[in-house]
Amino acid sequence: MIIKKLIFSGILFSIPLMNFAQNKSQIYLNPKQPLEKRVENALSLMTLEEKVALCHANSKFTIPGVPRLHIPELTMSDGPHGVREDLKRDSWEPKGETYDSCTYLPVGIALAATWNPDLARLYGRTLGSEARARGKDVILGPAINIQRTPLCGRNFEYMGEDPYLTSIMVVPYIQGVQSQGVSACVKHYFANNQEYKRGSIDVEMDNRTMYEIYLPGFKAAVEKGHVLCVMSSYNKFRGQHCSENDLMLNKILKGEFGFKGAVMSDWDAVHNTLEAANNGEDFEMGTNAKSYDDYYLATPFLNAIKAGQVSEKVLNDKVRRILRVIFSTQLSYNRPKGEFSTPQNQAASLKIAKEAVVLLKNEQNILPLNREKIKTVTVIGENAARKLAYGGGSSGLKTKFEITPFEGLREKVGKNIVLNYAKGYSSKASEDNRKLIQEAVEYAKRSDVALIFCGLNHNGKMDSEGSDRTDLKMPYSQNDLINAVAEVNPHTIVVLISGGALDMESWINKVPAVLQGWYDGMQEGRAFADILFGDVNPSGKLPCTFPKRLEDSPAHAMGNYPGKDTVKYEEGVMVGYRYFDTRNIQPRFCFGHGLSYTNFTYSDLKVTPVVNHSGKVTVSMKLKNTGKYAGAEVVQLYLNQEKSSVVRPDKELKGFEKIFLNPGEEKSITFSLNSKDLSFYDNNQNKWIAEPGKFKVLIGSSSRDIRLNGEFDLKN
Ligand code: BGC
Repeated sequence: MIIKKLIFSGILFSIPLMNFAQNKSQIYLNPKQPLEKRVENALSLMTLEEKVALCHANSKFTIPGVPRLHIPELTMSDGPHGVREDLKRDSWEPKGETYDSCTYLPVGIALAATWNPDLARLYGRTLGSEARARGKDVILGPAINIQRTPLCGRNFEYMGEDPYLTSIMVVPYIQGVQSQGVSACVKHYFANNQEYKRGSIDVEMDNRTMYEIYLPGFKAAVEKGHVLCVMSSYNKFRGQHCSENDLMLNKILKGEFGFKGAVMSDWDAVHNTLEAANNGEDFEMGTNAKSYDDYYLATPFLNAIKAGQVSEKVLNDKVRRILRVIFSTQLSYNRPKGEFSTPQNQAASLKIAKEAVVLLKNEQNILPLNREKIKTVTVIGENAARKLAYGGGSSGLKTKFEITPFEGLREKVGKNIVLNYAKGYSSKASEDNRKLIQEAVEYAKRSDVALIFCGLNHNGKMDSEGSDRTDLKMPYSQNDLINAVAEVNPHTIVVLISGGALDMESWINKVPAVLQGWYDGMQEGRAFADILFGDVNPSGKLPCTFPKRLEDSPAHAMGNYPGKDTVKYEEGVMVGYRYFDTRNIQPRFCFGHGLSYTNFTYSDLKVTPVVNHSGKVTVSMKLKNTGKYAGAEVVQLYLNQEKSSVVRPDKELKGFEKIFLNPGEEKSITFSLNSKDLSFYDNNQNKWIAEPGKFKVLIGSSSRDIRLNGEFDLKN
């Protein structure tokens, strides 16, 4: 093997390179040979010990490859919104290098809030390219667990509450990553919808709920995105840990969905050699053992094979899968070189952030702010000046830079507007929030506009891995702050930075405008400044319902969160807006909601009148920008079946399209629905069924702002 020093984007790596010339005769080393031929060839040359060695880690983030055959290590990295800093080989401690400050992309829920699949592709490509340049073969993302409760600590990494939106966004993300010769790894499979007791909680749900709500994202990742890796989750499902779950891994993922890649465990999620081996886990990561040889899928696995407890056929299947990943990444043909922390990647982060911010409220068109008229702005809040990339658990990033909201605004207004800053609240118990509020009020009194940047952060039990929030309350006396500032300044604008819903009830009617930012990446401050001053017209839409009260959201209303040892998803398919709309409960802001500075007019709805099971339904309509600003609208198509043998949600999202229009411009949009879109999963027959009858087509600007109504009959 030749060791070559390579320089990518100014970074020095030691990369083991194959001597291809020497090994040309080996089919498996020839990247131009068909993948399956290479896999079979390599497999035929491996010893039993070499095969087993592939099935477990040999460092915190690698599996070994086959050194004798010049098959290199497979290197992984978190994920999912940037490439994590390098850690020491055998510990969680950072290496403390200087080359690994990455491009911090907006988090998963922010990406989902763009409702723009093209941006998901850009996101994936950027991430893949960064991973590639850093010598990583697998990036541990996308993370797509459905938001069942607004409290889940990792909601910020995920893509919201809707299976259709998730399924549409996950595919280009994966394709983007994998276009760079890097494997994506969709996680956490399956039903890891809370962090509370994530290692032991046993999730129960019926088949319908599984197929309609929690599986579609993973199915799309496999069948359409052709994802190379899947990470099995910590929790149990129907009594069996997900890393050892025959139903989820063997039967559904590999059987029904035809997944050909490799299943890796979450870090320290394997508990039993025979169960993991026989039930579909392919390789084991992060186990808390003295040596890598002590992993469940290491020496104990080898012994189990020798003792006939696991067949070599099972082992060979795992090895094939892992080799597919290695040959499609490390040893693939024409693998791009990637780019790390380049201006181009940073620009991608900004582009995504600009479409991720959601304008929740804008009374009297107070936004955008008028640069000509405004003389003084007070920027208030710890989140206005706080960097948020590094935190939240495994997704935390060392970023090349992070433009805070205050910095973004300073850059935007230059010297023409006086910009004051008051902290307003502090996350540190040692600081007196009453004093900070007083100071903010004094500044706000003397300003044309008060901009409050508040919400959450990645401290402790907020937007953080390993724990859930305990309620929706705004922390650190923020309610008092907003109320006090709004009292003295009618032009108080609140910008929330959080991974999800917060209780706004004490102040929502007292402020004219509210924006929802998430953790919008390294350029977040610039995106906010552009939107606040109208250089960018907001076009984000909520990928999850913001309830008024926690008790209104389904899992909490039914008292089946967080469970004790078991959590029963008794709300079934009634997750998020499906529940709110069916029960007619008014949320604070509904799924799909997001305002614009311009107006859009919906017209000319046409629905193909009669269809049968084999037919397609075509829905077309026109959208016109009737306002003064160029902007984008996300046109959303929901279906409702009036009568059916099972209770169906009042609305289910079945299509959307993000359309950019100049003032006065009009476009036609066509949606095409097939019988699967009309179906529900029947628990008795265990299959999808499209029942004949009347369907309503609801086209809107959000799940509750329906602008056009149509219908069709599904005939027998
Ligand atoms: C997380 C995964 C992550 C892994 C490696 C686990 O604790 O659940 O999402 O990829 O650690 O850092």
